[in-house]
Formats: sequence, structure tokens, C-alpha cells
Amino acid sequence: MKNLKFICSLSLLRNRYAVVLSLIMVSICARGECGGISPSSQGLIQGARWLDIEGEHINAHGGCVLFHDGKYYWFGEQRPLAPGMGQEGVNCYSSNDLTTWIPEGLALTVSETPGCDIERGCIIERPKVVYNKNTGKFVMWFHLELKGKGYGAARYGVAVSDTPVGPFTFLSSGRVNPKQYPLNLSEGLRNGNDETGVYQDWSPEWIEAVTKGLFVNRDFNEGQMSRDMTLFVDDDGKAYHIYSSEENLTLHIAELSDDYLSHTGKYIRVAPAGHNEAPMVMKADGKYWMVTSGCTGWKPNEARLFMSDSLMGEWEQLPNPCVGPKSEITFGGQGNFIFMDPVSGKHIAMFDIWNPECLGDSRHIWLPVTFEKGRPGIHWRQYWSF
Ligand code: DGJ
Repeated sequence: MKNLKFICSLSLLRNRYAVVLSLIMVSICARGECGGISPSSQGLIQGARWLDIEGEHINAHGGCVLFHDGKYYWFGEQRPLAPGMGQEGVNCYSSNDLTTWIPEGLALTVSETPGCDIERGCIIERPKVVYNKNTGKFVMWFHLELKGKGYGAARYGVAVSDTPVGPFTFLSSGRVNPKQYPLNLSEGLRNGNDETGVYQDWSPEWIEAVTKGLFVNRDFNEGQMSRDMTLFVDDDGKAYHIYSSEENLTLHIAELSDDYLSHTGKYIRVAPAGHNEAPMVMKADGKYWMVTSGCTGWKPNEARLFMSDSLMGEWEQLPNPCVGPKSEITFGGQGNFIFMDPVSGKHIAMFDIWNPECLGDSRHIWLPVTFEKGRPGIHWRQYWSF
């Protein structure tokens, strides 16, 4: 008994020491003052540098995690460790346990061929990779901005690979569904005219006109704009491209072909004039949930939550799902993807703390999504471990 008491007080001391040590590390690393933390040894310390097995900060931003054949693959924007937007392409990391990450190199590399859509100098954002069971191919979609055109092109890009780590072959890029109207824009509002010059931007008339399809009509022939995006594969194997369209004012959900390489022409508008970007979608208890952000460039803002009984159905907006300190600015981050971890059975939400001065040093936040009273919540935890 005496021995037991001794062991207990020893382990209490040890536990206290461990807690104090991790709290010190959490506060140092949250301020970005340490070289970095390997998620494997320390759990996830939000806002710290997360190191791969080679000791480098994981350079995969705006990305996603794919679970395939018992392994996790983390894809994301490769960004420079210096000021500027220059990119090499899309990085891939693999892991058996979500904590020890092996750098697999560039899954998609920018092209050196002048005139190629993904020519070096282009912007590749928010890459998402899904596996197509019918074709056995890995399909990557991303937001593409053409070299030298700022954010004006507003295109999607598609690439394909036989293996998860790539190399992915670039297939095509473009605007979405030219000459197709959204399923939920009524006949009377479909005129194919460009009336954007008629209204003063942000006036009540302009907002009403946007709601009634001002930009859908403007872009009818060329195809709909596609910026921040995600992919979602439903239980029946159908895949969807969810993206910020209409000058980032309205979200679209477009159905993909069976091979996931193109659109079928069927799409809907969600939250017209709601100014949403950074969509991430999950399904739980037969309902579809989408978390988005507002549009404030690289600066964080308050997350929004939407719910629907069907992907191509009516979406209802609900209050901010984030809970805890700085929840009004998404804990300082912006959402990029929610994945279902089949091992823990948890949905995990991934966020970027953008560092526009050095995009490669943007930090990661991963948090589990929990359900209370049938609604998803994302609760802040500075430190947690799988
Ligand atoms: C916010 C988006 O979510 C990011 O992916 C990126 O496009 C920045 N805007 C650029 O300002």
C-alpha cells in the first residue's frame, strides 16, 4: 500500500511535470518561437510548425487528406519559404498514423512549357484528391489562376494519376459548365445577358440582381467562375465539385461525371450573394454539412455552417460552428477540408493559419468535429493527440 502511494505520488509529479512542460511548449510554439514540433512526438500543437520525418515544416496548404489502402495521404499547396506566390506545384505526404508524415515530393509539378495552363508562375490553390473506384485512378481538382493574370481567370484544373503519390498528369482547366444554367435558377431569370454595368456594386439593387443571377448570366457562354473549392464523394460514389463562383459571391455545387474528370452540366447555386469561400463538406447522420468562411483575403473571419438533406437540394444557413477563444475568427485560421478518419471514426477539420508574408510557413490547425444535439461543433483545443 505504502509502495502504491509512493508510485502514485511519483507518477502524479511526473504527470504534473509533463503537463507543465507541454503547456510551456504550447505557449512557445503557438507564438511561433520554436523550430518546430513533430506531431508524432508531441500530439498536435495548433499553430506550431508541424515537422515531417525529415524535420521540415509540412508544406501542404489549402489541401486535403485521402485515406487509401490503410494509408493517409496529405496533399496541399507547395508554397515558398520566402515572400511571394511562386509555387512548384502540389506536395504530397504519406502517413500510417496521421502523425508521422513522410514527404513524397511533388504530386503535381508546374510546367516549364510556355503557354501551358499550369505554366510556372500560375497559382494552384486548394488541391483535392479523390479515388475513383470504377477507373482505379486518383483524380486531383484544384483552383487554377493562369500565369500573369492575378486572380482573374477563376478556373478549375484537373489532373490524374495511377498512384496516390503521383506524378499526376495535368489534363485540363476551364470555367465550369459553359452554356448551362443552374438547376435552381428559375426560367424567368435566365437571359444570358451581361447586365453587370447597370448597377452600383454593393447597392441593394446590385445585391438583388446578384441573387437573381447577374453573374450567372454574364458568364453563361464562357462558363462559371471557380475559385476556392473542395470535392465531395457521396456514399453512392457520385462526386461533386463545390466552389466559390460569381465573383466569390455565390457557392456552386456541380455534379461530376462517373470518371470524376469533368462536369455533367448539372449544378446548383447555394447562398446567392452570401460571399462565401473555403468550402468544406461532410456527411453525418444522413445530413450534409458545409463549413465556409467569408471573403477577407488571407485574413481570418467567422466561419459559417450550412446544412442540407441532399447535396443538390436546399441548403439552410446555421450559426458559426466554431467554439472557444477566437471562434469569431475561426481560431485565426480558414477551413480547407474535413475528412472522415475511418480508424477513429472521427471527422477531422483542417484549417490554415495563413502567413501571406511567407505562405510556406502558414501553420496548420486540425480539430475533431463533435456533434451535440444533432449539430456539428468545432471546439478549440490548443493541444490534442489522436
Ligand atoms: C482566401 C482563399 O481562401 C485562399 O485560398 C486564397 O485564395 C486567398 N483568399 C487569396 O487572397
